Amino acid sequence: MIYKYFFSVSVVLVLVVKDVYPSVLEHDGSLFIKLEHYLDENISEPTERGNISVQSMRIGQTHVNQNQLTPQESKLLSGLSSSNQFYKIRATVNGKEDKPYISSVKACMLAESELDDRLSISLDYAGRVVAISQIIASKSSCEGATVPLEKLKYFTSNVYVRHAEMGPIPDTASYIQRLEREKEAKERGEGKDNRSLFAKYWMYIIPVVIVLVISSATNAENGGAGGAS
Ligand SMILES: *[C@@H]1O[C@H](CO)[C@@H](O)[C@H](O)[C@H]1NC(C)=O
Repeated sequence: MIYKYFFSVSVVLVLVVKDVYPSVLEHDGSLFIKLEHYLDENISEPTERGNISVQSMRIGQTHVNQNQLTPQESKLLSGLSSSNQFYKIRATVNGKEDKPYISSVKACMLAESELDDRLSISLDYAGRVVAISQIIASKSSCEGATVPLEKLKYFTSNVYVRHAEMGPIPDTASYIQRLEREKEAKERGEGKDNRSLFAKYWMYIIPVVIVLVISSATNAENGGAGGAS
């Protein structure tokens, strides 16, 4: 009984660990992400914003370097904001220029938050980047405030590394409880089935019977021999 329980616990742990962290536990990795942005609506090519280095994908350790906006760039951003346009970024992972991630927010939200945004890097099970997006966490809408240009100089960005989730997060304790309930139900089910004790435990009963038969036969033989002498 006890060892059965431990067995199910260890099976569950192996399953859970295998499902949640298939590769992430096995090998860590690093990434370099180039960040560019589109400030000038008349120019289709983005300009450099900075870069993110992810030193450890496993623990989400990152370092972000960002350029200070020039007075001209601040003015461009302010222009995007007042004309209610989008501010777009282009993120490129490890120099894969052919597969950039584009993400946009309302320029006025970025401006009103005074360049305070969140960059989230989503990874799949194998640790591959599947999305890079930017979010303005402090704002849910624009208030139409005029932001002075000197507040549009320095990005203060938080970077988050998100690992793939497998639907609801597995809960070991409740999974074990479920196993226990299933086992109990099975035992109750077996109680109802009308197999005799012998049908269930013949493999234990037969050796005992054989031993008993042999020993009583030996005893009888011994007894008979004793009686004759
Ligand atoms: C990363 O960004 C910083 C600041 O923007 C810049 O000085 C540096 O040259 C960049 N590094 C690379 C490898 O692009």
